[in-house]
Amino acid sequence: MCGIFGYVGERDVVEVLVAGLKRLQYRGYDSCGIAVLDGNELAIVKEAGRIERLEQVLSRYTFQAKVGIAHTRWATHGKPTPTNAHPHIDCHGTVSIVHNGVIDNFLNLRESLLNRGHILRSETDTEVIAHLIEEELSKISHEGEKAFVFLKAVMKAVSQLKGSYAIACLWEGAPGVIVSARQGSPLLIGVGNNEACIGSDLNAVLPITKQVILLNDGELALVTQTKVWVFDIEGKEKKVAVQRIEWEVTEEDRAGFPTFMLKEIYEQPERIRKIIALRCQGANPPIFEELDMPPSQLIGFRRIIVQAAGTSWHSGLYGKYLFERYLRIPTDAEIASEFRYREPVLEQDTLVIAISQSGETADTLAGIRQARSRFVPVLSLCNVPGSTMTRESDAVIYLHAGPEIGVASTKAYTAQLAHLFLLTLHLARLKWLLSQDNINQLLDQFNQLPEKMEKILDEQESIVRECAKTFLDSRYFLYLARGINYPTALEGALKLKEVSYIHASGYPAGEFKHGPIALVDKDTPVVCIAPVDSVYEKTLANIEEVKARGGRLIVVTTEGNRDFDEMAEFIFTIPQIHEDLTPLLTVIPLQLLAHHVAAMKGLDVDKPRNLAKSVTVE
Ligand code: M6R
Repeated sequence: MCGIFGYVGERDVVEVLVAGLKRLQYRGYDSCGIAVLDGNELAIVKEAGRIERLEQVLSRYTFQAKVGIAHTRWATHGKPTPTNAHPHIDCHGTVSIVHNGVIDNFLNLRESLLNRGHILRSETDTEVIAHLIEEELSKISHEGEKAFVFLKAVMKAVSQLKGSYAIACLWEGAPGVIVSARQGSPLLIGVGNNEACIGSDLNAVLPITKQVILLNDGELALVTQTKVWVFDIEGKEKKVAVQRIEWEVTEEDRAGFPTFMLKEIYEQPERIRKIIALRCQGANPPIFEELDMPPSQLIGFRRIIVQAAGTSWHSGLYGKYLFERYLRIPTDAEIASEFRYREPVLEQDTLVIAISQSGETADTLAGIRQARSRFVPVLSLCNVPGSTMTRESDAVIYLHAGPEIGVASTKAYTAQLAHLFLLTLHLARLKWLLSQDNINQLLDQFNQLPEKMEKILDEQESIVRECAKTFLDSRYFLYLARGINYPTALEGALKLKEVSYIHASGYPAGEFKHGPIALVDKDTPVVCIAPVDSVYEKTLANIEEVKARGGRLIVVTTEGNRDFDEMAEFIFTIPQIHEDLTPLLTVIPLQLLAHHVAAMKGLDVDKPRNLAKSVTVE
């Protein structure tokens, strides 16, 4: 989705803005632009397409600027053209604005602005904000410090907006000032030494400074090189809370890998090692230092609802299997966008668990707000510190996957599974449902994950590559599994769809004969996830049914299992591990398969069409 960055300080502003944009590009975008105040004059450069193109155009100019704003746009209102790209300006070109979010009442606002003689140039909802600020500036007194005049005009303009926004604006009348506002879309401010920046995302801000102010909904900020003020929408000044955020900023380079997605797939063993070091010291039950919910409360829940979107929902489904098996707590895994509008039954003894890589997904956030408004506590499993979900939940567990740049989630998924497994052990221990011996045995298995992940990456990659080459031109894939690997089937299918644009569906293997089996013909690749586990015999029978109908079998199974030697065209093996940990291994060849098919098709694996890394609109 769209990204915002802004800077005021002594550095080369254009260079800093472009670097900021590059750190935001992983979110997905189709056009980009910057506005700088060159002395007292606004200069705007924007382009459709990639940042490199914007950079080329910018190389023709020399600006003497100390302040600027920048934007990567993911089109919602109007096509990705240079005119629709941000920044947008008012009639006279003295106010400039970048915006993330959606203004719900923009059509009404636009019509009244047109009736009042404004000339609007783009099809976007954003442009109306620049014109509203212009009108407010013309109505209010310009006595006193211009920065505060500007702030007041922005405050009055945003009070007319309905919908979601994070904005940053410049005005020729107040050089050296950025005014920002937040309602429903993330925005943070970096407070450096004689410099400041604003951004929609930590990745953009942290290379400048780790001292950060996290704006809340309904707040505005006046940002200058030396000082930041925060106000509520009524203009009341608020205490500024600067906090230090420790979060590794991703290197822009791909460490020798052709794509971020592949780099992140290969990072998984290391990430799990980190999680082990952090959570499983010695043979104790897992440690969740940040989990701010008393044990007495944690053991009292009689129902769990996990709500999340996309890949995070798949890990939620994995959580359901674990919570029911080990904790005997009835658990639902809900798609967040359905959960929020379904009028769910929410009772006081229910725990809602939200899972999210970004911590900004609008649907999941709405589910959190819905639960909390009904006094149901929310525990979030989230990767990004300081994100909105971490601030709006009753308790948080951080995923420690590190920044994930590829739009297709890989290492965040396995970090989610790992944390759900460890959380289950933690709760089982608190509830005295597992003995210390049982916990130790399970942790011993968990500790073997990194090595086993590495083995898969070392030994299976070439077979997966061969398989990708064979099925490159297939029109659709089917993914089947039973039990705790059913979420793996969904995740494998989603990965393939996202990056290769080949249709794929995941099904519980036992459900397949109730309809989808009609899809199978002699050309259909069917990926069967069949580790030797408690449901293996049943899965095997379902696979036989597929084979009997001519499907082309690709099987993921346990090392040493020879059942598929005659049956399958490709076999990817995983080392032996406890059944409930197999999803952390079986998904790896499927991530590689999706990646390789997309790469062989020459597609942009890290930025698949139409997708965004952080989905901040409904
Ligand atoms: O940041 P979140 O985990 O809340 O994001 C949820 C989904 O948008 C996300 O998992 C999406 O499905 C990914 N592109 C999957 O690869």
